[in-house]
Amino acid sequence: SGGLVIAIDGPSGSGKSSTAKSVARARGLKYLDTGAMYRAMTWWMLENGVDVADAEAVAAAAGRPAITMGTDPDAPTVHVDGVDVGKVIRGDEVTSNVSAVSAVPRVRELLVARQREIIAEACASAPGIVVEGRDITTVVAPDAPVKLFLTASEEARAQRRSKEVRSGDVAATQAALARRDRLDSTRAVSPLTQTPDATKLDTTSLSLDEVIALVVKLADEAR
Ligand code: C5P
Repeated sequence: SGGLVIAIDGPSGSGKSSTAKSVARARGLKYLDTGAMYRAMTWWMLENGVDVADAEAVAAAAGRPAITMGTDPDAPTVHVDGVDVGKVIRGDEVTSNVSAVSAVPRVRELLVARQREIIAEACASAPGIVVEGRDITTVVAPDAPVKLFLTASEEARAQRRSKEVRSGDVAATQAALARRDRLDSTRAVSPLTQTPDATKLDTTSLSLDEVIALVVKLADEAR
């Protein structure tokens, strides 16, 4: 059966999104940003007055929002109940609360099931898909023929993230990033972890083009 799945995990600022989108574009694959799904879920919880520190309340409400993903790497979209939330889910409020929401098992159960449907659909209707997140190589698509773990030094990741969010305060960005990584790596369910069969790529001193070229090469070898 056809369909190439490229699974990419790594902490924030490791270059996952830019790499995943470019590789998908280069090889005509779909693109799925699973972090955007956890962000969309978090946005809905905040919007609807659910206390995100209350795991039971989050679990009880998790089935209510309808989260829809557009998987074109040139124009990826996220909708919640028909509302385009692509911009608002990048804001500080969602960013600082997403780790609490994504640690709730019921949230993961629902979103992982949806992610697997999107992957199956992309493999049936397109040459395949590049999927990025924290648990793609370990939980969502452990059988993917290409599995990557992207890393970079905390300083490099903070620099990149500061540029992305146009913040001059690199120290504050680095602190927020370190906090989120710690929460994501130490949670009980599907923490960010490196699986031994994933190719580890440290992007600290690589340009984006170099990383893309490496991943495209791996993708071509897997086909
Ligand atoms: O990738 P991004 O930084 O947008 O992800 C936002 C958050 O969503 C992460 O900090 C993490 O808490 C959660 N996440 C997750 N599992 C994934 C992708 C993201 O728990 N596969």
